[in-house]
Amino acid sequence: MAERRFEPSGPVRGEYVPPADKSISHRAALLAAMCDEPVAIRNYLDAADTRSTLEALERLGAGVERRDGELLVRGVGLRGALETTGGLLDVGNSGTLMRMLPGWLAGQPGRSWRIDGDESIRRRPVDRIARPLAAMGAEIEMRAGRFPPFMVTGGRLHGIRYELPIASAQVKSCVLIAGLLAEGATEVVEPVPSRDHTERFLARAGVPFTKDGHALRVCPVDELELETVEVPGDPSSAAFMVAAAILVPGSRLVVRGVGLNWTRCGFFAIAERMGAVLVGEREAAGAFAADEPIGELDVAAGPLEGTTVGPDEVPLAIDELPLVALLGAFAEGETVVRGAGELRVKESDRIAAVCSNLRALGADIEELPDGFVVRGSGAPLRGGVVDAHGDHRLAMLGAVAGLASREGVVVRGIEAAAVSYPDFVADLASLCGR
Ligand code: S3P
Repeated sequence: MAERRFEPSGPVRGEYVPPADKSISHRAALLAAMCDEPVAIRNYLDAADTRSTLEALERLGAGVERRDGELLVRGVGLRGALETTGGLLDVGNSGTLMRMLPGWLAGQPGRSWRIDGDESIRRRPVDRIARPLAAMGAEIEMRAGRFPPFMVTGGRLHGIRYELPIASAQVKSCVLIAGLLAEGATEVVEPVPSRDHTERFLARAGVPFTKDGHALRVCPVDELELETVEVPGDPSSAAFMVAAAILVPGSRLVVRGVGLNWTRCGFFAIAERMGAVLVGEREAAGAFAADEPIGELDVAAGPLEGTTVGPDEVPLAIDELPLVALLGAFAEGETVVRGAGELRVKESDRIAAVCSNLRALGADIEELPDGFVVRGSGAPLRGGVVDAHGDHRLAMLGAVAGLASREGVVVRGIEAAAVSYPDFVADLASLCGR
């Protein structure tokens, strides 16, 4: 495990283009593999998680070529001859791959695959996808009835109406993808909106798709067709640099080419409510081929006040809630996050791990079953030692905390950042003028 020390920093300054969006990269590759014609993907994220997706798709018979800086995916078709019946598909650390891929496999009658991943993935529940897929006609066998490794055996699927018990874009995407292969319409009802990248892709790929309030409906298709996809910058990765710019006095950062899909921008809205100076400007709609809005963010450091984040806002900022805790520790007053029990089943138990890490740096933070309460005095954290718990977002959180702290932070397990952001440490150093 690699240890790295992040010293208190001078202002974070300059222009910054974040790495490609992880969620959109996974979906671009998966849906491209389901097409009959080759699909070019520009700016595909090169990180551990999105490499796991390409490897799994290659094992299923898709071709993946890298040329002139873009990726060309030669798909096998929606009902294609998925090659490796009986084979093992290794999802590595990727929960998104683990939950979305079975949607496709479930609709391949009589074929079976075993899905497994790393130590963290083995702690993450898959019954949430097994329930709807079984109701549609597939067979899923899980370890201890709930966890990976698990077997997916495809069946002749039929459409269902499925009310998601939790807001989860991964589960929603899984059921919608299975719906492409089912007889009749499939309807998914979300309790509150979550990221909608899959829906945007499906609409682009010519799938009969409708949305009525929180109910999404797909009908089966014979084939998928996608034009070149260009992946925008990842707002979740950018959020770490944005947080650093908000917290380190004198900072001014311009973020370019960042995805500004509203279902991903909850953190920016929360930070603004806390008093951060953050001006967003969208580029012309449709500038990116995934029909995702992109734009620019202009961020400056300033004093913060505590805020309350409620359940409706949670899915829109789900991966950035650790950063909300960090801002809360530097803000004046109380910052409360509730309705975020899902954080306990992410790459780590992010409620327990964020609370113990920030406490180790001097924060007054209380763990709740479904969130946390942080009490700040408006003063910076002291600093200390944190453990990434093998979780990329916690590794990056520790680094940002170090920059803004009084005495610096040592991050144990900084290498975890490579899951979504391999150049994180170098990018951070260059923005701090190091
Ligand atoms: C993701 C959805 C979220 C998020 C994850 C990526 C996606 O998970 O936490 O990092 O790409 O669909 P849930 O949908 O399970 O909340």
